[in-house]
Amino acid sequence: VANGPENGEKHPLARMILVGVVAAVIGTAITLQIDWFPEPAAGSSDQVDTVYDVLLIASVPIFVLVMTVAIYSVVKFRARPGDMSDGAPIHGNTRLEIFWVTVPFLLVSGLAIYGWIVLNDIEAKEPNELEVKVTGQQFTWTFEYPRERVKSSRLVLPVDRPVHFRVVSKDVIHSFWVPQFRLKTDAVPGLTTRLRLTPDEVGRFDVVCAELCGLGHSTMRQAVRVVPPGEFRSWVAEQRRPAGGGGGGGGAADGKAVFTEAGCGSCHTLGDANASGNVGPNLDELARVARRRKPGTSAEDYVRESIVDPRAFTVRGFPGNVMPTTYRSDLSRQEIDALVEYLLSVSGGGR
Ligand code: CUA
Repeated sequence: VANGPENGEKHPLARMILVGVVAAVIGTAITLQIDWFPEPAAGSSDQVDTVYDVLLIASVPIFVLVMTVAIYSVVKFRARPGDMSDGAPIHGNTRLEIFWVTVPFLLVSGLAIYGWIVLNDIEAKEPNELEVKVTGQQFTWTFEYPRERVKSSRLVLPVDRPVHFRVVSKDVIHSFWVPQFRLKTDAVPGLTTRLRLTPDEVGRFDVVCAELCGLGHSTMRQAVRVVPPGEFRSWVAEQRRPAGGGGGGGGAADGKAVFTEAGCGSCHTLGDANASGNVGPNLDELARVARRRKPGTSAEDYVRESIVDPRAFTVRGFPGNVMPTTYRSDLSRQEIDALVEYLLSVSGGGR
């Protein structure tokens, strides 16, 4: 920085500003090149991304400029060896102080108003909204479609239809977040928070908890499937079929799919399903353990009880109140049967 010719020297302020402006342009260009977020998958994603870019353009140059002036000053005006003199006394500069209070005030107010306008637009009520009630609890999400009379541990949404989420919590504060949708809201006990968005990409995305909520926080991940409207209707019809009722869908439920979609792998290890969770017992050892766990009980019954009534028996060494108790109602009897059979068959023999 301090390598300019010492004879025809420019004013240090001019040189600082020159270096600062160049650095600010480079810094802003670099930050705008970075892909900060995953691929967008909701109608409001682009607006959110634009807000983020505007914030970067407003803040990066200021940060770079301030750092340039600070570093330049430290280098340029440092005390030389043996120099014990003090600098000139300074009594403040009213004009400068008014300037550096007013400019940030206007800047921050402008950004706040802009953000408010965008948020207002995103949160506007839409016609034909799909109502979804999201319940957070340690450590799982449950999704309820009141008008469709469906309750599930899986979130399935029709593409291009506005969704109105009402988010609640049964215990502590969680945060409902789908990174591809960009929006996020806390699930607060005693309150109902809301989110409105329109998924516009078919695909499978993560639903993650974004608030530290206890031992299993990092495992509080499920999936949202965004599907064509027809597929959504048949999914709803399938969910409504009474548990255990004849399988019109043709064939038994797929145990591995149940394991994956219900999110078992976030807490349990199971090699066959590429799951490596370690909050709950390792299910690769399930078949071996189940055979001698409870005398007089079949391995199938032991595994079934562990799924539908996880408080009845806790494996030593694991916390007793982490496994959700909602699978009894969220999974159909066929799904539970398929899951039990699958777990026993892939966890080392099973017979
Ligand atoms: Cu729920 Cu973190």
